[in-house]
Amino acid sequence: MKLLLLFLAVSTAQAATPLDQWITSEVQVSRVRLLLNISPPGALPGSVLASPSGDSPNYRFHWSRDAALVMDQALLFAPDRLRDYVALSRREQLAPSAEGLGEPRFRLDGAADNLPWTRPQYDGPALRALTLIRAFPLAKGSLRRDVLDTLRVDLNFVAQYGRSPCFDLWEELRGLHFYTQSVQYAALLAGAELFDSLGEDAVSARFRKVAEDLAAALELFWDPAKGYIGVTRELEIRPDDPHYKEAGLDTAVILAALHARVPRGILSFTDERLLATAHALEQAFSQAYAINAKREGQAVAIGRFTDDRYFGGNPWYLTTAAFAELHYRVAAAIEAKGELRVTPRNRAFLGVNLAAGTIVKARSAGGQAMIAALRRKGDDYLALLRKYVGSQGEMSEQFDRDAGVPVSAYDLSWSYAAFLSAVRARSSGSLR
Ligand code: NOJ
Ligand code: NOJ
Repeated sequence: MKLLLLFLAVSTAQAATPLDQWITSEVQVSRVRLLLNISPPGALPGSVLASPSGDSPNYRFHWSRDAALVMDQALLFAPDRLRDYVALSRREQLAPSAEGLGEPRFRLDGAADNLPWTRPQYDGPALRALTLIRAFPLAKGSLRRDVLDTLRVDLNFVAQYGRSPCFDLWEELRGLHFYTQSVQYAALLAGAELFDSLGEDAVSARFRKVAEDLAAALELFWDPAKGYIGVTRELEIRPDDPHYKEAGLDTAVILAALHARVPRGILSFTDERLLATAHALEQAFSQAYAINAKREGQAVAIGRFTDDRYFGGNPWYLTTAAFAELHYRVAAAIEAKGELRVTPRNRAFLGVNLAAGTIVKARSAGGQAMIAALRRKGDDYLALLRKYVGSQGEMSEQFDRDAGVPVSAYDLSWSYAAFLSAVRARSSGSLR
């Protein structure tokens, strides 16, 4: 059904462009390769390999974060995978581990990883809760009960640890993270709504209370002097590298809005602080990599943060796809809102030359032009990805900053999920 709608949208609107054709084939590549990483031979059913790469790096683990983001997309075209994912999640929730649900990754036999690693990380249970809440309508009978049991455990954990420091999604630094707190907030908010609808008022009131605290906490990340949202507060400095990431400019802030999908406050796609952060990131990355000297339209290859050194510190497929998705979602959000006020903070991202204070109506000619330009820029990002995927359309974790070829873990599940998520935003314009 979804595919059919996508096909109709593409075929009736106008003749398919070469980019449309590439997107259609890349969606197929992504679905096939993503599914190969779910429940692979030798792993417990429901396991999601971050990547099949067994060494440098060894990604043959089920990371709670990656798995939730991957299943969020996979369940849209392979809903039969829900049962195994829920069963595995229940098992992992009960598996003994030093950090409880703060354990970031599990072995393919379902046991908590016990190698030295940066733990705890608190985004995983929140992301899994978001995925399960979105998938809840798919669950019938005993599966419905199992989903609710899983959700209760995850959400109670999120409510308990929502305000505690932990390692960030990039598994590098301890502190309070905009990304982690955003998805915790979103999970508790969605959880409160779900348990409300089930008549469990006390449960939902508790989740809502912590969600409100987190909403207030998120506002504290805005740094007016720098002009962008800083990624971490109360950062625990590394004694060996005291200046590492001191700028706090990180694509994780954009991922936070994309994964939380709460159209309110600092996470909303029309918030000037979010848009200022996106622009600052585009500027920083345009200088950071040699391959950005040759532009694809207005898009630039995007990485995690500019002082990244992991595997040479390259642009990543999933962060570049996130910038495509961001542009589609900003366009859709302006349309949904009906208008947008131009400010000194959002003007550069919007690419408009209007005086601050101008209110642009979405339906006006100027508004339609602005929305179309944002969508075109989203397409520029996808066109840039097209240039850097492997010859079979494959996506690893990163692409080389000089040569533009896939590097680090091959067939990274999350890369495919991020691409599919961007394409959904492009074709539906919806805020889901
Ligand atoms: C592995 C992590 O997954 C990666 O994100 C990080 O950059 C490296 N370790 C270095 O700390
Ligand atoms: C490194 C990334 O930084 C982290 O977010 C991810 O969970 C792991 N790789 C596995 O893909």
